[in-house]
Amino acid sequence: MTTRKILIEPDPILRKKSSPLQKVDDQTRKLMKDMLETMYKAPGIGLAATQIGILKRIIVIDISKNEEKKTPLFLVNPEIIFRSKNTSVYEEGCLSLPGQFAEIERPAECHLKYINFDGKTKELKADGLLSTCIQHEVDHLNGILFIDYLSKLKKNMIIKKLLKQKKSSQRIVV
Ligand code: NI
Repeated sequence: MTTRKILIEPDPILRKKSSPLQKVDDQTRKLMKDMLETMYKAPGIGLAATQIGILKRIIVIDISKNEEKKTPLFLVNPEIIFRSKNTSVYEEGCLSLPGQFAEIERPAECHLKYINFDGKTKELKADGLLSTCIQHEVDHLNGILFIDYLSKLKKNMIIKKLLKQKKSSQRIVV
């Protein structure tokens, strides 16, 4: 397994729409394992292929806080087929927006159709943190970041901060 570099906003790739996969093969499985390792190392609870610069509809998630017993979810071509009317609010962060957090309101429950690690079509009913996490990651596949739900003022402030961080991280002292 190899860890990959996570793209940081602003980056035009994060704004692109990803394409569905035709099938889940060994190459896909290797990519999913790399994504999982990258996510655990970050650390984060969800990662979309978009965030490592691969425009394919693949997500990995693990919301378990148990270090011993990891419970990864591999979601290929995820499709949200139901969103509840009732909503919930979580303070969201994102590996592509380091150090930035905001309260985001989303449908509290969602149902998902997807292809799993073995290439089988599955359905999943999610609520709570998992529901929010799924919606956040599916947004990535459509080029959407959580800051897009904020006011223009707040969004621009966050992008400005990230741009500043990016510039200072490129500085070298020799
Ligand atoms: Ni994210």
